[in-house]
Amino acid sequence: MHIFRKDLEHKKPVNVNVPHKEVMMCLNESTLNPFKVLRERFIDNLEKVELNRYYQPVTQELTLQLVEYVGNGLSAKNIFFGNGADEMIYYIFVAVRENHNSFALSLAPSYFDYKSYSGAVSLDIRFLGLNEQFDFDEEEYIRMLSDDNCKLGIICNPNNPTGNLFNPDKIHRIIQNTNKPIMLDETYFEFSGVTLADYISKYPNLLIVRSFSKAFSGAGLRFGYLLSNEYNIEQIRKVQTVFNSSLLIQTMVLTMLESRTVMLKHTVGVVMQRELMYQTMKSMPDVRVFPSSTNFLTFSLGKLSQDFFRYLQDNEIAIRDVGAHPLLKDCLRVTLSSEEQNDLFLKHLKDFMSRT
Ligand SMILES: Cc1ncc(COP(=O)(O)O)c(C=O)c1O
Repeated sequence: MHIFRKDLEHKKPVNVNVPHKEVMMCLNESTLNPFKVLRERFIDNLEKVELNRYYQPVTQELTLQLVEYVGNGLSAKNIFFGNGADEMIYYIFVAVRENHNSFALSLAPSYFDYKSYSGAVSLDIRFLGLNEQFDFDEEEYIRMLSDDNCKLGIICNPNNPTGNLFNPDKIHRIIQNTNKPIMLDETYFEFSGVTLADYISKYPNLLIVRSFSKAFSGAGLRFGYLLSNEYNIEQIRKVQTVFNSSLLIQTMVLTMLESRTVMLKHTVGVVMQRELMYQTMKSMPDVRVFPSSTNFLTFSLGKLSQDFFRYLQDNEIAIRDVGAHPLLKDCLRVTLSSEEQNDLFLKHLKDFMSRT
């Protein structure tokens, strides 16, 4: 007997399968705890919020701060926010699904949870594979988008887990050559500095998803936002739960935005660390590391990757195995963390390679 949707029987549970070790370099999190840095300002801001109410001025203040941060001539009407980029993606999927034939188009490999969330709302998902250069066939992508049942194109830029940015001209041409909505996932935007936010007013089919989990160090806080034209925002908001964003979270995000120079200084440090670590790994024989515009590095030690993964686990360091897709066979992904943890990772890599 089915008491829920039949297709859920075949869906895998939403479960991030990572080991919990002392040094967590597996989920692209930050090592900075924003509460520790902003405790006083946060408490001051929180004093002004009546948590017994649904509506509070903090929502408007936060929206204004967010508009100012995003810039690019956007206004409050171009923004919608909620519990992480994930919730924005989920709402977009709900809003585009027409019937059981509807599908979204993503590149592969890309963010794993697109598949999970599309499955959750019974939206099919199809993939166009990246090539060895982590690039893709633009004409084929546009051809797949033109299918009547295709309701959404997804491009993660920079892409997780490959770490690369796609050619901006290509993205522009795709958006211009389709009337289907294109969801650009800019979760790692601050590490690349590349955005299409200034094209929101020009492209009626552009939806940009961003996150506070990465550059703003707020993974556990759960805050993300969507940028699009006023009409699209209005349509997507029709599928939201009312008061989807907690006033507590909003107060913390407001505090983070008021102190964004401090918060984003950390990001500058991560980018510098990334370049140093990339160069070090690149200079090591038998290590293949890919350039990255994010806060992680994807690399391979070929047949030794699995042994290294376990070796790190034995030494209380967790990184991510991203080798499930054939293009990333034997690949691992390490998140840039504190300088000490990055050094520790490199030390273990050197030790491991010298022993094999
Ligand atoms: C590409 C991409 N999109 C979305 C997310 C989800 O971000 P959030 O924590 O804001 O829900 C992640 C998280 O790792 C990600 O890598």
